[in-house]
Amino acid sequence: MDKKQLTIGILTSGGDAPGMNAAIRAVVRTALNRNIRVLGIRRGYSGLLQPDMIEMNLRSVSDTLHRGGTVLYTARCPEFKEEAGLERAYQVCQEMGINGLVVIGGDGSFRGARDLSLKGIPCIGIPGTIDNDIASSDYTVGFDTAVNTVMDMVDKLRDTSQSHDRCSVVEVMGRHCGDIALHAGVACGAVAILLPEVPFSIDAIVEKMQRTLRTGKKHFIIIVAEGVMKDGDLPDVHSFAAELERRTGVETRATVLGHVQRGGAPTARERVLASEMGYRAVELLEQGIGNRVVVNHNDRIVDYDILEALNMEKKFNQRLYEIADAISI
Ligand code: ADP
Ligand code: F6P
Repeated sequence: MDKKQLTIGILTSGGDAPGMNAAIRAVVRTALNRNIRVLGIRRGYSGLLQPDMIEMNLRSVSDTLHRGGTVLYTARCPEFKEEAGLERAYQVCQEMGINGLVVIGGDGSFRGARDLSLKGIPCIGIPGTIDNDIASSDYTVGFDTAVNTVMDMVDKLRDTSQSHDRCSVVEVMGRHCGDIALHAGVACGAVAILLPEVPFSIDAIVEKMQRTLRTGKKHFIIIVAEGVMKDGDLPDVHSFAAELERRTGVETRATVLGHVQRGGAPTARERVLASEMGYRAVELLEQGIGNRVVVNHNDRIVDYDILEALNMEKKFNQRLYEIADAISI
C-alpha cells in the first residue's frame, strides 16, 4: 500500500485507563514520522458514527504522556453493536479516507474492531483497561497504575487502622477479574483477598483473624473486589465489615475506593508498555495488516488475530493467591 494514502483513525473506548494517552501519543508520532495521516476520533465509536474527529499533528499529543484519562475522551456506544451502526462506521471511514483504525479499550471494544475489520477497515486493538481482564495480554495498559493507586490508598488506611487496632475492609474495582485485588492485596499485606475467581468463606476469614490475634496481630487489611458481595446476608462491604466486627470483636471500617482507581499519572511501566504497543500497531497497519490485537506476553510485544485473542481464557494466578495467604499471618 502507498504510504501517502494511509490514514489512521485512533480512538479510546470503554472505561478510561492511565496510559491511554501514552498509547495515543505513540501511534500519532510513529505514524506522522512515516508520513501517515492520523485522525483522532473523540468519544470512542460514537465519534466515528457522528463523525467527531480531528487531524492530529506532532504537537497534538505534547504534554500528554504523563496524564491520566484520555485526551480523546471515551464512551460506550450501544449503536455500534448494531449492523446499522457498523455500516455507518464503515461509510464514515470511507468518506474520511480512514483505511486503518487503532482501538484502545477492552474486550467489548475489540469485538467492535473485529466487526469493522471484517467489513474491510483494518483495525488494531490495544488493551487499555485497569482491570487486567484481557486474556491475551499478561498486562493491560492501566493495570499497573491502578494497583499502585490502590497500594497508596491502602497504605494510608493502614496508618489509621494500625493506630486504632482496627480492621480495614477495602473494596477495589474488578467486577469479573480479581487481578487488582490480588496484586494490591499482596503489595499491601492483606490478611484476606476476596475476588470473583475464588469463593470466599467468612468462617475461614474469622478463624484466620482469631489465629493471628493470638500471635499478637492487632490490625488487619482485607481487600475485596467489587461484585464479590452481591446478595444474600452480605450484600456489600459495609455489611461484611459489620459481620466481621461482630464475630471477631475487632472494630472494622469499610472503604470503597471507587473511580479514584481509574485516574492519576501513569506509572513508568505503563508508559513504556503503551508506547511499545502503539508503535507496533502502526507497524502492522503500515503493512496493511488488520484484525489484530497488540498485547504483551512473557515480556514481549506480540500480536494475535482478534477472534483468537477473544477466545483465549484468562488464567487465574493461583500461586500468587496462595503466596498471599501463606505470608499474611
Ligand atoms: P470494554 O471495551 O472496556 O470491554 P465495553 O464492553 O463497554 O468496554 O465496550 C466498549 C464499546 O465497544 C461499546 O460501547 C460498543 O460500542 C463496543 N462493543 C462492545 N461490545 C461489542 C460487540 N459485541 N460488538 C460490537 N461492538 C461492541
Ligand atoms: O472496566 C473498568 C472499570 O473501572 C471496572 O473495574 C468497573 O467495574 C467499571 O469500569 C466501572 O464502570 P463505570 O465507569 O461505568 O462506572
